Amino acid sequence: MQFHFYPIAVAIVSLLFSQAIAPPSSGIKSRTAIDDSVSKQAAISLQGALNNIGPDGSEVPGAGAGFVVASPSKVDPPYFYTWTRDSALTLKMIIDEFIFGNTSLQSYIEDYIHAQAVLQTVSNPSGTFLPAGLGMGEPKYQVDGTRFNGAWGRPQRDGPALRAIALITYSNWLIENGQPSKAKDIIWPIIANDLSYVGQYWNQTGFDLWEETQGSSFFTVQNQHRALAQGTQLAEDLRVTCTGCVQAPEVLCFLQSFWNGNFTVSNINVNNSRTGLDGNSILGSISTFDIDAYCDSPTLQPCHSTSLANFKVLIDTFRETYSINSGIPVGSGVAVGRYAEDVYQGGNPWYLITTAAAEFLYDAVAQWKARHNLFVDETSLAFFKDLYPAVQVRQYNSGNAHSPFVEIMNAVTAYADSFVAVAEKYIPANGSLAEQFNRDTGAPLSAIDLTWSYAAFVTMSQRRSGRFPRSWGSRNAITPPATCPTSSLSTKGIYVPATAAGAPNVTSSCQVNVVFNVNASTYFGENLYVIGSAEDIGAWDVENALPMGAGGYTSDRPLWSVSTYLDAGETVSYKYVRQENCNQAWLYETRNRTLTVPACGGDAIMQEDAWVGPGGAAGTC
Ligand SMILES: *[C@@H]1O[C@H](CO)[C@@H](O)[C@H](O)[C@H]1NC(C)=O
Ligand SMILES: *[C@@H]1O[C@H](CO)[C@@H](O)[C@H](O)[C@H]1NC(C)=O
Ligand SMILES: *[C@@H]1O[C@H](CO)[C@@H](O)[C@H](O)[C@H]1NC(C)=O
Ligand SMILES: *[C@@H]1O[C@H](CO)[C@@H](O)[C@H](O)[C@H]1NC(C)=O
Ligand SMILES: *[C@@H]1O[C@H](CO)[C@@H](O)[C@H](O)[C@H]1NC(C)=O
Ligand SMILES: *[C@@H]1O[C@H](CO)[C@@H](O)[C@H](O)[C@H]1NC(C)=O
Ligand SMILES: *[C@@H]1O[C@H](CO)[C@@H](O)[C@H](O)[C@H]1NC(C)=O
Ligand SMILES: *[C@@H]1O[C@H](CO)[C@@H](O)[C@H](O)[C@H]1NC(C)=O
Repeated sequence: MQFHFYPIAVAIVSLLFSQAIAPPSSGIKSRTAIDDSVSKQAAISLQGALNNIGPDGSEVPGAGAGFVVASPSKVDPPYFYTWTRDSALTLKMIIDEFIFGNTSLQSYIEDYIHAQAVLQTVSNPSGTFLPAGLGMGEPKYQVDGTRFNGAWGRPQRDGPALRAIALITYSNWLIENGQPSKAKDIIWPIIANDLSYVGQYWNQTGFDLWEETQGSSFFTVQNQHRALAQGTQLAEDLRVTCTGCVQAPEVLCFLQSFWNGNFTVSNINVNNSRTGLDGNSILGSISTFDIDAYCDSPTLQPCHSTSLANFKVLIDTFRETYSINSGIPVGSGVAVGRYAEDVYQGGNPWYLITTAAAEFLYDAVAQWKARHNLFVDETSLAFFKDLYPAVQVRQYNSGNAHSPFVEIMNAVTAYADSFVAVAEKYIPANGSLAEQFNRDTGAPLSAIDLTWSYAAFVTMSQRRSGRFPRSWGSRNAITPPATCPTSSLSTKGIYVPATAAGAPNVTSSCQVNVVFNVNASTYFGENLYVIGSAEDIGAWDVENALPMGAGGYTSDRPLWSVSTYLDAGETVSYKYVRQENCNQAWLYETRNRTLTVPACGGDAIMQEDAWVGPGGAAGTC
């Protein structure tokens, strides 16, 4: 029953809100004013993403078929590479668009499947595909799918999980559309390798999505759980075995440990000087969002109390961090970046995280509406207070337009819209989305035409218009044990090249772990590599030499180190080589060394060396 009186009351409430979110001086637009601009920008964004995908993307000549280039920017910053994470998130967007009805996108999906089947087998500095899947932890490759050998934060363990999620989503569509054998014979072998990797390595540290912090990342763990849980169901549907999926409840158990009582600490098992408040946590919850999930699900959905509490604390840090946010009151959206301590490219807000904040709120509203209720508890109370001051700790059931439930839904939706309005305020007139925008002026900066920025705008715009991917089955995820085991957890993976999808039939040459340790005093900016006769250490081509890490370098011991795999039983000659900071010539050791790799099944060996040869000197660049 509708009363004519109520819409007027609602109109007054929304007028108050639009005033709160749109002080006349700010230039920020209201909801209806952004409807048009959001749909225009979404179309530009879809095209912007497609322009960065080979082989025909207009901005990325030279990229191979199905390879998603992070950005056309080749210098400052150099992003002309294909990252497994960015690619998978972009393809997840494209697969969702395809399922929503844009059938013209299918060829991008087919190209991606082939490209990733091949990529899984490419040997790289993180290791080889066989025998143990280590190469799949490599974060990025050249745009033609060949290895990238530079020093980098590796491994990154979110890539295989995100790729599996994208491919599982497409496989489910194939099953529902009469092509189960394609899902089983062609795509499942790729997914099976990725899930093997997740099951084997989830309980080891790796670099986070920002490629800076080695530890355990909330975003990574949340996606690892979704991949294993969703993979379990696909394996049942296809009547195949998922090696690694049995780890799902243990991963979910671990996921609970990122909450510190006040907010989500996005990186744990680390020693850095950050609070842990990080956009990582918002991105994790939107990429594991499930429209059918219960809000108290341990998968930590957007509508979960801890996710909401974390959202408030995190967003409030950015109110104080960036001067373009000054004067914007609590309860109104701001420009959002990675984390308050960020200094990369000046430490600015990012388009993709600002739109992710909006997407997170649209997701939460959709979940409450689908459940027809909302539980406000002590944990989430502060989040709601900013938006609806009369809120109390209690259950709100859905009701008519005047009910508190609907008023709260409208308030959270208006809050989401205000983040979109902030993003739009700083998008240039031609709709081009860079990575960041200046914290003081709002001008776009860092990599231009960032594929992930475009993909993030598209997914936000779909949620804003009420389109959600179908459930991934969070309700069926196995409940985690009450206490997590303390021993390190792992299921040994099974790795088989996905030949039906186009992977080369690489064979296991049986490799053995070899650790190179060398004492070499270096100046800041100088890097060390190992090079030698084996393919895995560059076959004497310095462009393919294996970069070493200085994580253990101290004033007592100038240690550079790298762990790799070499063919069992082979005799290898090698030496160390210094890369200078200003493109001066490489400096080689003046002696050749040899080692003999143990026979198949042998124990890891550790080479303990000390640099023999010229020292380096910093250039004047
Ligand atoms: C569908 O995808 C094509 C690219 O293949 C794009 O040009 C078009 O705008 C998309 N349509 C919609 C409605 O998003
Ligand atoms: C491994 O899992 C255990 C149990 O959840 C957890 O205590 C530990 O921190 C995890 N370590 C890593 C590196 O994931
Ligand atoms: C949580 O917040 C309360 C109140 O500000 C504070 O006393 C407590 O130390 C905080 N705990 C953590 C782990 O930050
Ligand atoms: C962090 O530092 C503390 C104290 O030095 C040490 O006990 C702990 O093992 C370190 N943790 C990691 C993950 O390095
Ligand atoms: C779009 O505008 C931005 C900012 O003004 C500019 O840097 C960029 O080159 C423009 N892109 C195109 C394709 O015109
Ligand atoms: C790949 O090579 C292995 C080992 O040589 C062989 O057993 C297998 O049949 C090959 N697979 C394909 C698809 O050719
Ligand atoms: C070391 O081996 C490389 C590759 O075979 C060769 O080019 C070089 O001359 C050798 N150097 C010494 C000092 O033996
Ligand atoms: C490397 O340095 C450490 C610490 O000074 C020393 O104990 C070790 O013997 C050195 N290794 C070699 C091969 O010289």
